[in-house]
Amino acid sequence: MNNIISLLTVCLMLAGTYLTQASKLFAGDGPASEGAVERSSQATRGAQPLLESAGGSGHDSAIASPPSAVSPPNGSPGLAATLGIMFVDGSTSTLLVERDGRKYIVDLVARSVREAELPAREAARKPQSQSTFVADQPEGASVFKQKCSTCHGPDGRGLATVGTPNFTDPKVQASLTDEEIVETIKNGKKDTLMPAWAGKLSYQQISAVAGYVRSLGSGSQPQQVAAPGGARSAQSGIYEPGDDVLMTLPTGRRLDRHGFYVNFSHRFAYDPAFSGTARGGALAGLDGFSLSSFGFRYGVTRKLSVSIWRSPTFIARPIQMMAAYNLMDEHDKYPFNAAVRVSIDGQNDFRQNFAENLEGIFSRSLTRHAQIYFVPTVSLNVRHLFSPNSFESRDFPNLPGTNTFSLGVGGAVDIRPTVALLAEVIPTLVNGNCHQSGCVDLGIHRPAYAFGIQKKIWRHSFTFGFTNGPATTVSQRSATRAAFVNDPTADTPNGLFIGFDLTRQVY
Ligand code: HEC
Repeated sequence: MNNIISLLTVCLMLAGTYLTQASKLFAGDGPASEGAVERSSQATRGAQPLLESAGGSGHDSAIASPPSAVSPPNGSPGLAATLGIMFVDGSTSTLLVERDGRKYIVDLVARSVREAELPAREAARKPQSQSTFVADQPEGASVFKQKCSTCHGPDGRGLATVGTPNFTDPKVQASLTDEEIVETIKNGKKDTLMPAWAGKLSYQQISAVAGYVRSLGSGSQPQQVAAPGGARSAQSGIYEPGDDVLMTLPTGRRLDRHGFYVNFSHRFAYDPAFSGTARGGALAGLDGFSLSSFGFRYGVTRKLSVSIWRSPTFIARPIQMMAAYNLMDEHDKYPFNAAVRVSIDGQNDFRQNFAENLEGIFSRSLTRHAQIYFVPTVSLNVRHLFSPNSFESRDFPNLPGTNTFSLGVGGAVDIRPTVALLAEVIPTLVNGNCHQSGCVDLGIHRPAYAFGIQKKIWRHSFTFGFTNGPATTVSQRSATRAAFVNDPTADTPNGLFIGFDLTRQVY
């Protein structure tokens, strides 16, 4: 309550100041709340009475340096200028108020007002021009690489998925004083992922890494430190996929060593999203059955991972086991990423209709905002997609298999730092269908394809999209809804249905 009153008081006083200057229309006619009484006379005369009446300045008289990145408010810059108000970049609670050539910092949360020692612009320049660090570059760079780069990026440019700032951005540098950098490193930042390092790093190390963080602001530094620290400045051009798949096509991204991941996928394959009878309850097919698969992935080493994946009975309940190995990674200065995956899946909970798959996953970042993917896949003993008549094992037929080759192609483009648009198409180039006698017809007449939108959060991602491919195992994924429901037209755009994926790194 007190908070609200004093906030209101500040607002009223500021408004009062403006109105007084603009006209005397409301002079002497204000609401009778404490402080507001003073508004028309004192507020215009000088800042000190105004500030004191806002409360808190008494207990917080320490002179401090001002926040260093300020900008005029949106909307009515004229009004803000008249009132001498500047917002502080990145802060939701601090205002800079200018009165009679002096600047005051208003902290609405702490309910304190204090005088800023330096004019804001000088302070903004100070950290860059006269940084007090005696930077020990090699040590700072190596601490940064070992302790900080996982969250701040190897080059300090920040990772959108973690929400870390870009230390090479002059605006970010200007918003941080040397003290703030050291304090943040020592104590961490409450309610964020930024950990406290006091006790884990020595004073020298903290000072060195603070100096290194500061040095990232002056453009030439990242190259200079690249050699001793082993950090790579070229990495800024590398795309970070949010998930192990686009919609269904694998991205081949590397897992964390000893990282443990849970993956889910839902495919509402029975009811098209954009066509069909107008059953009010179906809501673009979301009321229908979904084919809900889930699995786990584990990073054995930084390059080797294993996974297990299971799809439900309605799509023959396959269990798929896989090992994946990353041969090349753009993070290691290769021109593209390359991974191989071998997998085997067996239907009816790994009891029959086994298929074996070999995939190559090649991807390349176009910038750090986009990546393209090529996934050639050989699958042996692929069966026609089917839905058993019941949960009973005897209702799972032993079907003949055939060997296929498909070439998945996909792309991801970040439209915002943590939001990507995705598209993929997986044509079966060999043995998708067969009309002669004596061969196995998989009923794949059109390529499976999907497009969607993905939200990437640190260690999580959620992807929502539309597809004509009901299946998510390697041997089934290039088949379409037409094969699944035995209707040749069911995989046209008319038959697109909703799917979503969810991935979470648990450890
Ligand atoms: C677990 C992830 C993680 C690690 C490890 C980490 N940071 Fe941070 N750091 C963050 C996040 C997230 C933020 C942004 C907090 C916020 O939202 O303001 C941050 C913020 C900072 C800031 C303040 C930036 C600002 O604008 O206020 C500095 C300085 C910083 N980190 C330095 C370091 C240094 C140096 C190390 C290594 C010794 C390190 N961090 C390790 C996650 C991390």
